[in-house]
Parts: sequence; C-alpha cells; structure tokens
Amino acid sequence: MLAGIREILIISTERDIPQFKELLGDGSGLGVRFSYAVQKEPKGLAESFIIGEEFIGTDTVSLILGDNLFYGTRFTPVLRACASLVEGASIFGYWVNNPSEFGVVDFDVKGNALSIEEKPAEPKSNYAVPGLYFYDNKVVEIAKKIKPSSRGELEITAVNNEYLRLGELKVELLGRGMAWLDTGTHDGLLEAAEFVSIVQKRQGLYVSCIEEISYRNGWITKDALIRMAQPLMKSDYGRYLVRVAEERR
Ligand code: G1P
Repeated sequence: MLAGIREILIISTERDIPQFKELLGDGSGLGVRFSYAVQKEPKGLAESFIIGEEFIGTDTVSLILGDNLFYGTRFTPVLRACASLVEGASIFGYWVNNPSEFGVVDFDVKGNALSIEEKPAEPKSNYAVPGLYFYDNKVVEIAKKIKPSSRGELEITAVNNEYLRLGELKVELLGRGMAWLDTGTHDGLLEAAEFVSIVQKRQGLYVSCIEEISYRNGWITKDALIRMAQPLMKSDYGRYLVRVAEERR
C-alpha cells in the first residue's frame, strides 16, 4: 500500500485463506481491492506468478512475502520508484549476519550484480535478497519456464537469475539504518514483535497501520476512518485511528 499499489492478491494455503478473507474482506473499506488465491502445495514463491496470471493480466507486478517486515525512514519513495518500473526487475540487497539462510547476491567492484544463489553453503557475500520483488509482465512467462530446484520449489532466485542473464535486473542496496526482519521462525517472529512493540511504544505511532496508510494516501476520507474506528474504540488501535483522523497523534 505504501508503494501506491491498490490491487492486492493474497496467496496462502487452503486452510488459511478463509481467515485472511474474514479479517480483510474485499478491501473496499480501505480503498483497495483484495483478491484471494490458494497455493495448494508449497511449490515455491515463483509459482505465485502462475497462480496469479489472470490477476496480473498485462500489468507489472510486485511480490512481497507475508513473513517479511520492512521498516525504515524514506522507504516509501524507494517503493514508489520501484512500483513505477516499466521494464525489467528490481530487487534489494540487505547485509545480514547469516546469508546462508537466504538468497544471496554478490557484486563486482562497480556494484553490478554478478550472481544470486539460493541458500548457498558458502555465500559469496553478506547481502541477502529480501522478500520484496518488482517485475515487468514477462515474469509470468519466466516463472512458467523455470524448473523446480532440489527442494522441489520454483525458486524466486531462478526468476531473478533469468532477469540477471537478460541484463534487466536492478539490485538496490538497503542501508544498515533500515530494518528487514524475517518472521518465518519462532525466534524471528518474537524478535519482530519486540521490535514493533518498542518502536510503537516509544513513538505512540503504529507500525504499518493499514487504515492510517490508506487515509494518508488519500484513498479514504476522514469520516470513513472515524467510522472504521467505531467498533474498535475499546482498544488503543481504535482510539489511535481517531487520533490520526483528528491529527492528534
Ligand atoms: C525465500 C527466498 C529467499 C529469500 C527469502 C527472504 O526463502 O527463497 O531467496 O532471501 O525468502 O525471506 P524461504 O522463505 O523460501 O526460505
């Protein structure tokens, strides 16, 4: 939503999709459109472009992993620039202590990406590729052509390598002042929760409050925001929405 994207396809398992639907609905209250699709088996991130082929249509597309969390100042303009991509692909590199657990990108002296490897035992750099990707429309055809990896998945890294081979991959480094957290493990989830809690308590501002984002993007009116807050007024979340509407944060 911070990237200015209003058409969002949520892909998850057969078991979890009904809960996402119940929580988020069709998005009309937020001035966006949520659609839903099931990935029957964990066959890899790149399968999302095959599942989402009809949804994507002739558009460019962004993929964000549900267990990835990004937080940092001036990230919105970066997202907006990526979302206006016309050709090729845009991904990120982020310095981590444990690159072997991720896709890893390495660079030549001029900063051009040389290779991307999925969970390499001996990583060539400390730059992990976070789960946020922007592609032109040919990603659908590329996803259809790649072969499953040894773990039986259509790897997003294979897609990125294809763009690299075509000379159409842009890798932007996220600075160390940016937080990229991965909540795919129990420890990771706990750490991310602590991080969000600390920032929110310190500032009294919510991290990634979708109603606030929608309001500040001009997608919903002040009245709509206040209306949405009403059933939530017993919680700080509801009262926060009213504070945002009244600019009394
Ligand atoms: C996936 C990608 C990997 C990327 C990571 C980011 O890994 O395959 O390239 O760095 O997400 O969270 P997975 O979550 O499938 O282990």
